[in-house]
Amino acid sequence: MRYISNKGGVEPVDFETAILDGFAADGGLYVPEYLPKISREQLKEWANLSYVDLAFEILSLFIERTIISETELRHLLSNAYGTFSKEEVIPLYPLKSRKQTYVMELFHGPTISFKDIGLAFLVNLVDFFLQRRNERLSIIVATTGDTGPATAYYAANKPSLDAWVLYPKDKITEEQERQMTTLGAPNVHPVGVYNCPDGADDLDVVIAKLYANQRFKEKLRLSSVNSINWGRVMMQTVHYFYGYLQIADEVGEPIDMAVPSGAFGNLCAGSLARMMGLPVQTFICANNRNACLHRIFSTGVFSKQAIIETPSSAIDILIPYNFWRYLYFATGQNPQKINHWMQSFAKNGIVDFQEIDYMSLKKGFLSYSVTDTQTISTIQEVYQAEAYLLDPHGAVAVAAADTFEGKLPANKLICLATAHPAKFPTIIKQALGTTQLPQAATHERIEAAKKYCQQVRLCEQPYLEEALIQVMERNWEKTQEALY
Ligand SMILES: Cc1ncc(COP(=O)(O)O)c(C=O)c1O
Repeated sequence: MRYISNKGGVEPVDFETAILDGFAADGGLYVPEYLPKISREQLKEWANLSYVDLAFEILSLFIERTIISETELRHLLSNAYGTFSKEEVIPLYPLKSRKQTYVMELFHGPTISFKDIGLAFLVNLVDFFLQRRNERLSIIVATTGDTGPATAYYAANKPSLDAWVLYPKDKITEEQERQMTTLGAPNVHPVGVYNCPDGADDLDVVIAKLYANQRFKEKLRLSSVNSINWGRVMMQTVHYFYGYLQIADEVGEPIDMAVPSGAFGNLCAGSLARMMGLPVQTFICANNRNACLHRIFSTGVFSKQAIIETPSSAIDILIPYNFWRYLYFATGQNPQKINHWMQSFAKNGIVDFQEIDYMSLKKGFLSYSVTDTQTISTIQEVYQAEAYLLDPHGAVAVAAADTFEGKLPANKLICLATAHPAKFPTIIKQALGTTQLPQAATHERIEAAKKYCQQVRLCEQPYLEEALIQVMERNWEKTQEALY
């Protein structure tokens, strides 16, 4: 299996290159040359596999054995998911207050959000490749509060990696910030950035400029483990298969899924899983008031609007960059089209899809933009009804699905819960109308992070590019000197 850019401007590369590069050199996103098809018979054979064994089967479709042997892949996977607190990795909780509705709990990894699912594997994989080559690289990520902690956790103390984790200061919770800034690992560098009116999207702009700076990029061997990296999306296809196989009485039974969405990495993975053969009937793309994806699915227009702060802050995202990856497959794998759309969006901030493309991209999707009140009241109502505590992002998924009650085609519904409520104590207190957090809103990892001093660099957004070039270069040279 080889990988190409969805913009079509680079020669095909192997899996290892796609992972270590992160971005394709033409500014496109790496995609596999084709999507493997999975038959119903195959799915039936997978029905009783553990999460790790299922992941092994799915990833084997995308990775050649000459690049990672069977033993190495099994080892990487069991190491990655051995750090999770539940044996089944992602348990499914049946809601009592909704008919045939299950919450897929994606937050049992060490940093208690779904980002652990992709990054537990990807960061270890990057490290594996680098150790084999005896090389180092710098990874840089922007975070709305969850990618940062997971990247920092898995990168910590790995000599092959320098991890730069940028976050918009005051737009993530203190708990999320502490997860990144209290690790005390010499190779993890959190950077809190003031003055980001568009949140983490402002940081993505600076990262794109650093990537475009050829001298800097090559000197520091710059890469990314944001969901622009194919490894994240590939890994995230697994939980859709796993969740489906846990809930379906019979393989082939249609099931609906509701996904709280921001940059569309998670739902891009779900969409690809469906194209590979997973019988998901409808995906509900659940936005908060930052509703770029809802606008696309409901009107066929991809447009930017100013960011709004909401209770589900991790999906306060302006531009769902993984949508371009989904679009490549949804509209006939035509890189010229994607290139044209990406260029028009960069120039005009808007793409108005033609009817034929709009019909293709929205097939099998519903969408909804959840208000802040709906998010808060969903947390409250589910807790009162059954003492089950949703985090604000899981609540966005459930609230969006509620609006389609009685209209969904499948009998069963899975709502993806992407973070643990302990990351959002202020919102939980507001929702439950209390100053005292219930046990379900606390977590030992969050408590542990309170006991350490924070170590962080602080910076002003207008000067971020210059400041990063200076500090990253100095740090790289110092580390190289110490090592060689
Ligand atoms: C808790 C949480 N839920 C949902 C999302 C949205 O995921 P995606 O950006 O892949 O759409 C994110 C991250 O952005 C997140 O941190």
